[in-house]
This record gives sequence, C-alpha cells and structure tokens, in this order.
Amino acid sequence: MQKVARNFFILAIIYALCGMALGLHMGMSGDHGQAPTHAHIMLAGWVTSALFSFFYHLFPAAGEKALATVHFWLAALSGIGLVVSLYFLMSGNEAMEPLLGIASIGYFLGMVLFAVIALPAISRK
Ligand code: HEM
Ligand code: HEM
Repeated sequence: MQKVARNFFILAIIYALCGMALGLHMGMSGDHGQAPTHAHIMLAGWVTSALFSFFYHLFPAAGEKALATVHFWLAALSGIGLVVSLYFLMSGNEAMEPLLGIASIGYFLGMVLFAVIALPAISRK
C-alpha cells in the first residue's frame, strides 16, 4: 500500500478505536453529552480518513506527490486538534473555543487541498 494511503488508514483505525470507546463510555454512563465529539471522531475521523486512504490507494500517483504528504499532516493535526478541543469544550472548558476555531479552519483547508490533489487525478483516468 502507498505510504500516504497507509498513514491515513492507521489514523482512521486510531479514530475508530477512540470514538467507539467514547461511545461505549456514553452508553454505559448514560451521559450522552459527548455525542457531538463522538460523531466527529467517527465521521470526520474514522470515515473521512478511511476515504482518503482508499483514494490514495486507488490513485497511487496522486499519493506520491509532496502535496499528499502535506495533506496527511494538515488533516491529521487539524482533525486531532478539532476532536480534542471539542471534547474539552463539551466538558465545559470554554477557553477551548479559539483552538477549536483554528483547528476547524485547518481541517477545512485540508479538504480544499484534497480537492486540488484529487480532482486533477480523477480527470486523468
Ligand atoms: C461501539 C460502537 C458505538 C457506540 C457504543 C456508540 C454510542 C453512541 C451514543 C451513546 C450516542 C449518543 C446518542 C444520542 O444521545 O443521541 C451516539 C451517537 C452517534 N454515533 Fe455512535 N456509537 C458507536 C459507533 C458509531 C459508529 C461506528 C459511527 C459512525 C461511523 C457512529 C456515529 C454516531 C453519530 C453520527 C452520532 C450522533 C447522532 C446524533 O447526534 O443524532 N457511532 N453513538
Ligand atoms: C471544519 C470541520 C467541521 C466543523 C467546524 C463542524 C461543525 C459542526 C457543528 C457546529 C455542528 C453542530 C453541533 C451541535 O449542534 O451540537 C456539527 C454537527 C455535526 N457534524 Fe460537523 N463539523 C465539521 C466537519 C464534519 C464532518 C467532516 C462530518 C462528517 C463527515 C461532520 C458530521 C457532523 C454530524 C453527523 C453532526 C451532528 C452531530 C450531533 O448531532 O451530535 N462534521 N458539526
């Protein structure tokens, strides 16, 4: 498997394990206050990272570009920042809001970068 594809898949598995553990914790405690955090870990984390992984696996030439490595690190760091700061915000720590804002913008820019990488790759096929 191509390197960026593998990195995204490992990241996806880590999100899935953490997100499900949080889901189980909510289920067992009866406190669903972290549902938005769980939803983002599962969908913006596990599902989206797995989709990126499959894309780079299907289009290995796109994954060999330096921009793809930049995409991985931007998505990974901003995504982790997003869910960790969201967790603390949902726990009542309002000081997390600026960090959540910065991480969200980073995550959005990661998707813009993915569009720049992915759209030319699919049009060549
Ligand atoms: C061990 C497995 C899982 C457990 C124990 C679990 C548990 C939960 C709990 C307790 C809630 C809060 C429900 C509520 O208060 O409305 C929730 C919401 C949610 N879960 Fe999970 N979950 C699991 C797996 C998943 C997976 C695999 C996904 C998606 C890939 C997922 C996506 C969501 C989403 C999107 C919500 C928010 C739904 C809403 O706000 O209406 N969960 N989950
Ligand atoms: C820049 C990144 C993102 C930002 C800033 C963002 C922001 C938000 C906000 C403000 C809410 C409402 C939360 C609430 O009312 O409790 C929300 C809910 C939700 N978002 Fe996102 N989101 C982002 C990315 C994503 C992505 C990529 C996905 C899925 C692939 C997603 C799936 C969801 C879901 C399923 C909910 C409903 C969760 C619930 O009801 O608990 N989000 N998001």
